[in-house]
Amino acid sequence: MRILIKDGTVVTAADAYRADLLVDGETIVAIGRGAAEATADRVIDAGGKYVLPGGIDVHTHLDMPFGGSNSSDDFETGTRAAAFGGTTSVIDFAIQYKGETLQKAFENWLARAEGKAVGDYGLHLVMTDLNDAIIDEMASMVRQGVTSFKLFMAYPGVFMADDAMIYRALVRAGSLGGLVCMHAENGWVIDVLVREALAKRQTEPRHHALTRPPITEGEATQRSLTLAEAAGAPIYIVHLSASQALDAVCAARDRGLPAYAETCPQYLFLSAENYEEPDFNGAKYVMSPPLRPKEHQAALWRGLATGDLQAVSTDHCPFNFKGQKELGRGDFSKIPNGAPGIETRLYLMYDGGVGEKRISLNRFVELTATAPAKLFGLFPRKGTVAVGSDADLVVWDPSAKHVLSAATHHMNVDYNPYEGRQVTGAPTHVLSRGEVIVEGDKFLGRRGRGQFLRRGSFGG
Ligand code: URP
Ligand code: ZN
Ligand code: ZN
Repeated sequence: MRILIKDGTVVTAADAYRADLLVDGETIVAIGRGAAEATADRVIDAGGKYVLPGGIDVHTHLDMPFGGSNSSDDFETGTRAAAFGGTTSVIDFAIQYKGETLQKAFENWLARAEGKAVGDYGLHLVMTDLNDAIIDEMASMVRQGVTSFKLFMAYPGVFMADDAMIYRALVRAGSLGGLVCMHAENGWVIDVLVREALAKRQTEPRHHALTRPPITEGEATQRSLTLAEAAGAPIYIVHLSASQALDAVCAARDRGLPAYAETCPQYLFLSAENYEEPDFNGAKYVMSPPLRPKEHQAALWRGLATGDLQAVSTDHCPFNFKGQKELGRGDFSKIPNGAPGIETRLYLMYDGGVGEKRISLNRFVELTATAPAKLFGLFPRKGTVAVGSDADLVVWDPSAKHVLSAATHHMNVDYNPYEGRQVTGAPTHVLSRGEVIVEGDKFLGRRGRGQFLRRGSFGG
């Protein structure tokens, strides 16, 4: 199948230029002017539209077990919703449970994805139980294309890693060309604050945020950066939300250290005020780190514009309000942590970022596709529009209006954190490896067509 995308403006992290683009099979084979339509099986008119690389979301939790149930999007519904929002590749988190090998965790998550995913997917490995054998096994993961490892400094007794474990993982990952992704919150201090709040019968959702104050993220971020420096290894801070954490990343980068960080749309567009929504609706925003007071947003936007933050991912981890979030009525610590966002990332970053002139069009592409591809070993196969790259493409109408709503979204969750927000800019066609999988509001892809992405080493 040869598809000609005609007369669009091709946008990469570096350029924006009018061109015709020819896709043959799964690959972009030509970019130029005056392409002959007769050689194509199909022509997509992209006049007045942008042609962007497919979005890459490097932080998702699809089909993730939590407190007896699972996050409500599996690999099929999640990657389908991602495609509707212009994201064609995700990197999800396989979890090593206590006593398990990394191979077991890897195969467990492959089984969740294979035969279901609509778009391509890679995996990070969450390590919760580290010993000599597991340290050794990290090499086998890297050989199999799992080149990044997540550690938690929060959730004591469940996922939390101590400093020794963190240090050893950093040294090993660094020597293997891998990257450690860090959930940086001081879990011990948070546990004390949660127990104190519950003892005082402070049970509403807003106490989730009050018991995880910004300083606990700032401290853990600084500590993880120091451990990475001691280990001589790169580090990637996930879902950075607080200005104190950003200050620590900036200082490390200013000293030339290989420190990287992402933030997520929820920290840019929502705030701690959302926890005040009545009738337990604040539970919809219970995630970790929590939403912050509004003043943190300006710091994050500055970090995105200056380059101190390198990527925008979603931390998509949806739980239905009915039946899942409600488990925490009367005890905020029992509210499943996480919120949906896999479908809304590009809409929000284009409308609120490019549209509001906070970031350029090129930076939008860099943050949502190119930098994630480079950091996580997918570039140049993914993350750009170039001859030889996978034809993961989004034809983007910069003037289309769209309303974000649970009534129309494709995520398998009963609420949308941005309910009723009108955005400008929307995809008209989404291609994954040369196949049009979304056209307007029609899904044309297939369950199970997504492929596992064997990633290369860290490319910071
Ligand atoms: O609240 C969150 N972020 N849930 C997903 C798990 C994690 O920590 O990333
Ligand atoms: Zn996390
Ligand atoms: Zn996460």
